[in-house]
Amino acid sequence: MAETAGSATTPPVRNNWLEGPFAPVDQEVTVYDLEVTGSIPDDLDGRLLRMGPNPVDPENPVTYNWFTGNGMVHGVRIRDGRAEWYRNRFVRDDQVVRSRGLDPLPGPEQLGGGARYVADNVVNTHIFPHAGKTWAFAEAGVLPIELSYELECLARSDFGGSLNGSWTGHPHRDPVSGELHGMTYYHGWEHVSYQVLDTTGTVRRTVDVPVHGRPVVHDCALTERYAIFLDGPVAYSDELLRQGYAFPFMWGFEYPTRWVLVPRDGVPGDVVSVEVDRWAVFHILGAYDLPDGRVALIGPSNSRMFVTDRTGPGEVPGSLNLYLIDPVTRKTEVKILDDQPQEMPRLDDRLVGSKFRYGYFSGRDQGVSTLIKHDLDRSAKERYAYGPGRFGMEAVFVPRTPDSAEDDGWLMTYVTDMSTRTTDVVILHAQDLQAGPVATIHIPYRVPIGFHGNWIPDAELEEQRKGLGL
Ligand SMILES: [Fe+2]
Repeated sequence: MAETAGSATTPPVRNNWLEGPFAPVDQEVTVYDLEVTGSIPDDLDGRLLRMGPNPVDPENPVTYNWFTGNGMVHGVRIRDGRAEWYRNRFVRDDQVVRSRGLDPLPGPEQLGGGARYVADNVVNTHIFPHAGKTWAFAEAGVLPIELSYELECLARSDFGGSLNGSWTGHPHRDPVSGELHGMTYYHGWEHVSYQVLDTTGTVRRTVDVPVHGRPVVHDCALTERYAIFLDGPVAYSDELLRQGYAFPFMWGFEYPTRWVLVPRDGVPGDVVSVEVDRWAVFHILGAYDLPDGRVALIGPSNSRMFVTDRTGPGEVPGSLNLYLIDPVTRKTEVKILDDQPQEMPRLDDRLVGSKFRYGYFSGRDQGVSTLIKHDLDRSAKERYAYGPGRFGMEAVFVPRTPDSAEDDGWLMTYVTDMSTRTTDVVILHAQDLQAGPVATIHIPYRVPIGFHGNWIPDAELEEQRKGLGL
């Protein structure tokens, strides 16, 4: 049989980040009184919120990058052992507003206007409670968006004019002061900006740190002495932008990669750069100061990224690395703690900046999506597999009580089931993963695999408001 030209020789272009558990959903829904199996711990009173990319219009699979899709927020509200509602809402960036015929979101304009590579103020990365409000955050010149309690977008914000134009998707809260510390960048800048957002929601401190090129600084770390980011090896490329890539960043084979240690109370002249081999470390589990003056930092790491595959971070399997950073010798010792790929690291947020023992990750075990818990002191690893065809997302640790020990609490995550196209929120006791979930909340819709979120107790928002006299 004769073949039609092109049909047999040109396979359709595929992009894994637009398919299967990553495929976007089209509808915003609200569901009340969700079915629950097991029993939800009585003390949980708040919202489990998360977000991720969910392109509103069909994307070009060649140039679409998972990191740049329009944001969608998902949330479950829990109170008195009940799951009161599930909601999902598009984040109303300019493209969503155009596509759905909505009113434009009020608030200041994004840095660089339409000339930026992430056009349309796409916010898709993380959700935080701060200064009594719920915020959606992203990086690289995109402004934060304030959300209502019910996840509607209210307005873009530059924190009352105090933000220098770019915020971050991964700020870290100092558990002592309640302030958010972030490393912010923008492809038009020749520096990275360390910014501290105080408890009133105003940037009280900015330190601009010159960098070698224009690196992606997705995450950062906080110790008692330093705020830390990685300068390189993934950096912005004008050439890729000209070629139309939505995420114009590439591996820098020659990029002189450095950990940059910014003393939390220092000035730009106090900044220390420490050499390290070329690893991409997009997410950092945590970091702390060692008694000998070095810094220990742990993060999922990749030895290569964005060389041949520009659609997302799947080029080579990653590992979990420990970086021992010496600000005196300016050298870094790298130890591979686990050679299995894992991502979305979380710790007990009460220990940000100080020594911690446990870390929680998402990974795979024999092809099945799995929650991984590391006991770093004992070099021990435990797993909980979500089951065939089920895909777990970032697991958030929630202490059982405000004073309970590290690891004595709940791990909460969304699990998408591709056979039923529904989603479960599972709640596990971190110290007894093998017992399985103490509660499973059933959402009759599919939540695509996304990025990050938080458990936001109502009491935390109330306490923040009270602190501001509101
Ligand atoms: Fe992230």
